[in-house]
Amino acid sequence: MRLRMTLALGAVLLPGLAAGAVVGDAAHGTRSYADYEKPQVCASCHDDIYQQWTQSMMSQAYTHHWDEIEYFELAVPHAGKDEMVAGVRDGCNGCHAPVSFLAGDTPPPRPEENSRANESVHCDLCHTVTGFEGDVPHNFNWITAPGRTKTGPKPGLSSPHHDTVENEFIKTGDFCGTCHNEMSPYGVWVKSTHLEWKEGPYFAQGVHCQDCHMPKGPGRSAKMAAESMVAQHLFHGAHDPGKLNGAIELRMNPLERELDYDGTAVIKVQLFNGKCGHKVPSGSVEDRIMWLDVTATDSAGKTWHLPVDPKGFAGEEYTIAAEVLAYQDMGIAKDLPDFAGIQRDGVPVGDRIFRMPYFDPEGRMTIQQWNTKSLGVDYRIGPRETKIETFTWTLPADIAPGRVTFRAELNYQKLVTPVAVFLDVPAEESATHVINEAVTWVEVFD
Ligand code: HEC
Ligand code: HEC
Ligand code: HEC
Ligand code: HEC
Ligand code: HEC
Repeated sequence: MRLRMTLALGAVLLPGLAAGAVVGDAAHGTRSYADYEKPQVCASCHDDIYQQWTQSMMSQAYTHHWDEIEYFELAVPHAGKDEMVAGVRDGCNGCHAPVSFLAGDTPPPRPEENSRANESVHCDLCHTVTGFEGDVPHNFNWITAPGRTKTGPKPGLSSPHHDTVENEFIKTGDFCGTCHNEMSPYGVWVKSTHLEWKEGPYFAQGVHCQDCHMPKGPGRSAKMAAESMVAQHLFHGAHDPGKLNGAIELRMNPLERELDYDGTAVIKVQLFNGKCGHKVPSGSVEDRIMWLDVTATDSAGKTWHLPVDPKGFAGEEYTIAAEVLAYQDMGIAKDLPDFAGIQRDGVPVGDRIFRMPYFDPEGRMTIQQWNTKSLGVDYRIGPRETKIETFTWTLPADIAPGRVTFRAELNYQKLVTPVAVFLDVPAEESATHVINEAVTWVEVFD
């Protein structure tokens, strides 16, 4: 509730910024490309940081295939048909191609045209930010001051190419929040990584986004710089298998170890978020799917799939995989007026899904975060939270006596498969990544 209040306040305050800097939507067309230096200029001295950045999603925020598809095939056509979301035609670029947004060059040329939009979120944008305007960082409300002075984490440095000034702000999670919190045109938080972090244990302990996503290691921040501890620029997140590995810990145990052949096994699975400063999944929650799959294999090698026990909370139907249709609002952009939708989950029926569903103005589940008017139950795993799932399984009549092995697998996809197939998004985007596994057993007696 408190979250919603802050958000409403932020929305009200936005138009009244006359006294402060021009930020957010109002900054559209207030700058030119020439105000910002190209990343290749920085590369000549900051060689290592440049290579790291080119490998990160930051440098692909505009060119990445799925971004291109969602922007050009859904968001832009939708914006042309529905006044309520017309602003996203420009607005998506405020975070994905910020300098094109500032230059008023929106929609920017397609990635294949190799324009400066392809620089995506680049060096000179981040390193000329001085602060943010308003109460809550969100929707690109950073203040930009391009020019000779670059803002950095350390005081008193000198560079032959530019001036540097220490800036406390860019060392904080609030800086990241300017793009990692997003409010939809309907006033709903459709991205809230920063808010999740701020309400959680890590902010309270002074651990910022940079500590996990830009860890410091020994090296030189520029060719001619002295050795020091340097903030790495790999911005590894959901696109990095190593970052996803073990993001949630998985353990399981039976309530009873020894069962008669006509008994019932009760298996408990615990899921612990010990690695992430925010909920999992976070960020593009509308696209992501994380699900728990449990199987049992008897001593003869026969395998069964176990559905999760429902808990009975409101909205739970969105957290258990089912054969239902969703995402009908893609029909607006795609000119399919009676579009029946596509499969919601694309994962084994009965599996527990850790997600928060987004709903369009007609109450249908959507992956179009800009068309989101309300949110459903938040069944994600918060920082340092443990969730317990139970699987009650009446032993089948044909089970072989001996050891029955239970296997749990926590899976993750960046984009639900049915949507990826429908929009022809390259398969890597919906590839299944196993975050963690666990095993336990019971002994079955004749
Ligand atoms: C001609 C070489 C050169 C070029 C080109 C250059 N820099 Fe630098 N930059 C340096 C040096 C040297 C330092 C000081 C590093 C030190 O002493 O640790 C520095 C420091 C910085 C700092 C401050 C780092 C801190 O620890 O606070 C930032 C930020 C920065 N540069 C950004 C940029 C950006 C953005 C570009 C491109 C627009 C760029 N630089 C281009 C040489 C260069
Ligand atoms: C100017 C806007 C902007 C700022 C400021 C910003 N980001 Fe991002 N960030 C983005 C965008 C846009 C993407 C999505 C890239 C894509 O299209 O996949 C992204 C992606 C990421 C990813 C990759 C996520 C994944 O799915 O793999 C991480 C990690 C990340 N940012 C961390 C940070 C951190 C930490 C900060 C603060 C130091 C920060 N970002 C500041 C815009 C920004
Ligand atoms: C998404 C925003 C973002 C982008 C893009 C970005 N940086 Fe940074 N950079 C930061 C932040 C934040 C820090 C400080 C992290 C900290 O100290 O916690 C930083 C630190 C630095 C430092 C000082 C490193 C140190 O610890 O001494 C240099 C130099 C630098 N960046 C240069 C660059 C260059 C060159 C590029 C492009 C190739 C670039 N940055 C791209 C956000 C960004
Ligand atoms: C304690 C370490 C930690 C902190 C603090 C932290 N993160 Fe993360 N973050 C992770 C890990 C681990 C993952 C990979 C698991 C995942 O994708 O959910 C991740 C994933 C992400 C993703 C991808 C999420 C997804 O599911 O697509 C983004 C974006 C991101 N972080 C941004 C941020 C921002 C912005 C902050 C600060 C507001 C932050 N992180 C703070 C550890 C951290
Ligand atoms: C307030 C900043 C902001 C705005 C506005 C914004 N995005 Fe994003 N977008 C992000 C960030 C940050 C991420 C990375 C989140 C994550 O990795 O989970 C992201 C991720 C995405 C992704 C997923 C990328 C991937 O590789 O998985 C797509 C697609 C996308 N955005 C498209 C859009 C479109 C289309 C719009 C306009 C309707 C838009 N974005 C508006 C900040 C923004």
